[in-house]
Amino acid sequence: MNILVINGPNLNLLGIREPDLYGKEDYAALVALVEDTCAQEGIGVEVFQSNHEGAIVDKIQQALGTFDGIVINPAAYTHTSVAILDALKAVQIPAVEVHISDVSKREDFRQVSYARLACLKTYMGLGLDGYRQGILYLKEYLSSHR
Ligand code: DQA
Repeated sequence: MNILVINGPNLNLLGIREPDLYGKEDYAALVALVEDTCAQEGIGVEVFQSNHEGAIVDKIQQALGTFDGIVINPAAYTHTSVAILDALKAVQIPAVEVHISDVSKREDFRQVSYARLACLKTYMGLGLDGYRQGILYLKEYLSSHR
């Protein structure tokens, strides 16, 4: 089982960026948590981050035939990107949406998620642990849908 973890814009600045919202742990800590979780669960993983919408669309397209599942935090593109939604729909790879903060309790413009329309489940407000939970859910889902 191989999964792709995608992080959108500004998530590379974790630790520096609004720590009250996103925590004090940096991006390297997020990558380590994802890699450790996957190693423990016997899952192959690639972690990808980009600040560019088109690069994220390219990565989702390239996942076809290589990855069995996707965990995605599209960051700000969550609320704007029909292109990322369409890419997820196009490849039909089971996907889970993760947000570090609880977007449901934030500004009105964060209440829309395009990506969610192509995702099986959303984890939000759990900090970095949302990624771990998303990976475990995806493993369970993929194991029972083979
Ligand atoms: C975020 C929430 C988004 O609204 C925001 O634009 C982000 C991060 C989160 O992980 O909580 O960049 O996706």
